[in-house]
Amino acid sequence: MSPSTLRLGVNVDHVATIRNARGGRHPDPVRAAKLAIAAGCDGITAHLREDRRHIRDDDMARLKAEISKPLNFEMAATDEMVAIALKTCPHAACLVPEKRTERTTEGGLDAAGQRKHLAPAVLALKQAGIRVSLFIAATQGQIEAAAELGAPVIEIHTGAWCDALTEGKAAQAKTEWDLIKSGAELAQSFGLEVHAGHGLDYASAETIAALPQVMELNIGHFLIGEAVFEGLDETVKLMRAAMDRGRKKANA
Ligand code: PXP
Repeated sequence: MSPSTLRLGVNVDHVATIRNARGGRHPDPVRAAKLAIAAGCDGITAHLREDRRHIRDDDMARLKAEISKPLNFEMAATDEMVAIALKTCPHAACLVPEKRTERTTEGGLDAAGQRKHLAPAVLALKQAGIRVSLFIAATQGQIEAAAELGAPVIEIHTGAWCDALTEGKAAQAKTEWDLIKSGAELAQSFGLEVHAGHGLDYASAETIAALPQVMELNIGHFLIGEAVFEGLDETVKLMRAAMDRGRKKANA
């Protein structure tokens, strides 16, 4: 684990997206995961989608067998995915929405509206010793629902905040940031571990790293895209450095 208290999880989905554009085996997401680990990340995330649009079943099995850091299995709360997760036995499982009806208006999992649907999946994964996190918007209702469901971890959906930053919508970015900040505080008051992700780049990762409640950032698209120009090793190191700069502000 990195000396920093803030972990970096690298999402390798989009290495598989590029591979699948042509079929075959290249580029291999497992090779990318090993490179990211060698460059200093703390874990690997991969999302096995119901349509297998990027990560495939054998990628997930190979990640579990071959990487030396914790695997975070992103998945929908379906019987099929729960069965694969129980077989794979990853360190963690992050439940995410895949269907429109499972989403909140903010894009995260509708933990508040989907309690009955989510409860058996949370329980089965927890009983298998897998650390369950729920990918939710940082609203009070969603955080309370996550706590009631007994998930030990939430991952705050940072997509709306990152979009507002990218589009230069300062007022909206401030509203989204205030929600993330107060949500992280509320979640910690419930004893939940707080992660965050979606749409993060160097600047937004540095900013959110300053929130002391946030223990892990999961980042994919920007890192894999930037790796085209800088190489994955350099990109992971630059992200780690950005997070460490932000974290210093939290500890200052
Ligand atoms: N965390 C979760 C739960 C996600 O679903 C995703 C997107 O797959 C990410 C983090 C990473 O988002 P991005 O690829 O935009 O960095």
